[in-house]
Amino acid sequence: MILGIETSCDETSVALLERDGRVRVNLIASQIERHQPFGGVVPEIASREHLQHLFPLVERALGDAGASWSDLESVAVTTAPGLIGALLVGVAGAQGLAYGLGIPLVPVNHLEGHIYSPYLQKEGPAAPLPDRFLSLVISGGHSAIYDVRRSDVRQINRTRDDAIGETFDKVAKFVGLPYPGGPQIEKHARAGAADPKRFPFPVPQFKDESLDFSYSGIKAGAIRLAREHGIRVEGDPDALASFCATFQDALFAQLFDRLEAVRSRLEGKKPAELAMAGGVAANGVLRERIAKWGEERGLLVRLPEKRYCTDNAGMIAFAGLQKGQPGDPRRVAVRSRVG
Ligand code: KG4
Ligand code: ZN
Repeated sequence: MILGIETSCDETSVALLERDGRVRVNLIASQIERHQPFGGVVPEIASREHLQHLFPLVERALGDAGASWSDLESVAVTTAPGLIGALLVGVAGAQGLAYGLGIPLVPVNHLEGHIYSPYLQKEGPAAPLPDRFLSLVISGGHSAIYDVRRSDVRQINRTRDDAIGETFDKVAKFVGLPYPGGPQIEKHARAGAADPKRFPFPVPQFKDESLDFSYSGIKAGAIRLAREHGIRVEGDPDALASFCATFQDALFAQLFDRLEAVRSRLEGKKPAELAMAGGVAANGVLRERIAKWGEERGLLVRLPEKRYCTDNAGMIAFAGLQKGQPGDPRRVAVRSRVG
């Protein structure tokens, strides 16, 4: 079995996977409540929480799987990108385990974890990876589209400013909704008499035909609307519902706009599959829309299991399985940013 460790942000997670990608255990200790009073993740608190939870989680994972240390064949750990102190806790822990057990250490880029995560199944081995697929990674830290051919990952676009999840979180915070904002906005957009035409705001277009995402305009527009119309969590619930629905629609409209542009610009044999990943991929409205969008274009859309959307070690172990080259446990470096 491969042991996966993820500590890049505010979730300590440990997983055990079989070689065929079957998830035996995927444990997540969320720190959301510890960060909630601050309206965002506090790096120093995150590091300390990881330190406290990591080893108890590893022991619990082995216990839950009925496995012992000798069943571990390798350790996969997130080394980048993320909060540097938080990454260091996971990597130092993984180094100690790999070195102590005499097994290889596989450094994993967190984004690659998300990219392959839609192929993890609720039960049984992972679904077979196609030779080529488009990957849409939408999370708190990233919004990007990749052209993936097995372990060759090529970035097609990225966000010029804020990530989509970050935009959800910031606007939610502005109207008084708790962190993380994405699920809150989704919930309120479904509530009451949501009228998505009550507060219209446009999808930003670049003059240079760039494929990139940009969310700062939508964020500024949403905050301006909220201020002008006094949208607050303790205010008129129908106005809040309409605001959330409009804001969410604008964020998603940009995803579809760029997906369409990317698809038409790809040359040669186009990928027949689109795999969506990351925390925002848990959004039910988006899941329905993207499935329909793919159906209309003869494109197979692979949606991740909800438990593998937000940060988890299952996806890190699975990405580790895609890599052939484990590193020397003593020579693994962490990086807060990549590229
Ligand atoms: O993948 P993730 O756990 O962390 C990063 O790698 O960034 O993603 C967290 C992000 C947060 O911004 C959160 O608001 C968003 O995913 N999110 C959602 C939903 N659930 C989580 N956004 C929209 N709708 C949701 N249901
Ligand atoms: Zn993530």
